[in-house]
Amino acid sequence: MSNKHTLLTEEEMQSYVPMPVVWQALDHICRVSSDAQAPRPKVLDWGCGRGRTVAWLRERGVEAYGTDIATDVMHRGHELLRGRGFDPEELLLPLDRVIAKHEASFDFIVSEDVLEHVADLPGAAQFLYRITRPGGYGYHEFPGPYWLIEGHLKMPFVHWLPKNSLRKLAIAVALKLGWGPRPMWPEFDQVDFATRVAGFFRYSIDKTFYRSLDRVTSEFEKAGFACEVELFNAGRSWADSLPLWIKRSGFPRFKAILRTARRI
Ligand SMILES: C[S@@+](CC[C@H](N)C(=O)[O-])C[C@H]1O[C@@H](n2cnc3c(N)ncnc32)[C@H](O)[C@@H]1O
Repeated sequence: MSNKHTLLTEEEMQSYVPMPVVWQALDHICRVSSDAQAPRPKVLDWGCGRGRTVAWLRERGVEAYGTDIATDVMHRGHELLRGRGFDPEELLLPLDRVIAKHEASFDFIVSEDVLEHVADLPGAAQFLYRITRPGGYGYHEFPGPYWLIEGHLKMPFVHWLPKNSLRKLAIAVALKLGWGPRPMWPEFDQVDFATRVAGFFRYSIDKTFYRSLDRVTSEFEKAGFACEVELFNAGRSWADSLPLWIKRSGFPRFKAILRTARRI
């Protein structure tokens, strides 16, 4: 099984399909590039993980770069990029090197399921503002906070609860009832029940930060972006008829694409 702990391989790339936000971004980039006078757009995948989308976009002729807070994860994409004739040290960059080398220069920034993992949202919005060229764009896809089933732990409701012992108890109950990731995450596969509960609880409090659409939008606006939001249903069609205020909460499985434009 391939995941962020394993090396990115050509075999994995053969079946890799990026999220809708990347297709939308590619469409936008193609429209911009069809103007022969316009310079080739420079694109950043923010929260790129092992760089799958960077490799995918480069395959399509896009000048794409990636950055992630987890440099160890990015390293697992180096071999693949090297095998394709790229210098991974130039394409997958730690956050500070992006600032140092590419300040105010990206025409387009894209992110797939990153915003719900960001601990410091105001800091992230300011970072994205610094590296976007004046007038440049961002497309960010992320889940609303009230999905019925938490997308990582695959447990219902646990992320609706405060980050305290109540959430830990809910995780334990969910695991007892047979909920949880399938297959089990490798690091929790061979451990006892208490260690597994503690591990999922830690992940839930340290690595997930669900926020309302209004909160996310307001932080980007404060940082200097004009924003608009598109909602889409990543679940069952019956949910389409729910009122807008429920969809905006994310329930039962609505995602948002936040489109930003840097004010000059
Ligand atoms: C669910 S993963 C998505 C990975 C990648 N988009 C992919 O498809 O493989 C979320 C990523 O966001 C990264 N991340 C979290 N906070 C970040 C931040 N402040 N700046 C950059 N990346 C961040 C995590 O390290 C993680 O790799």
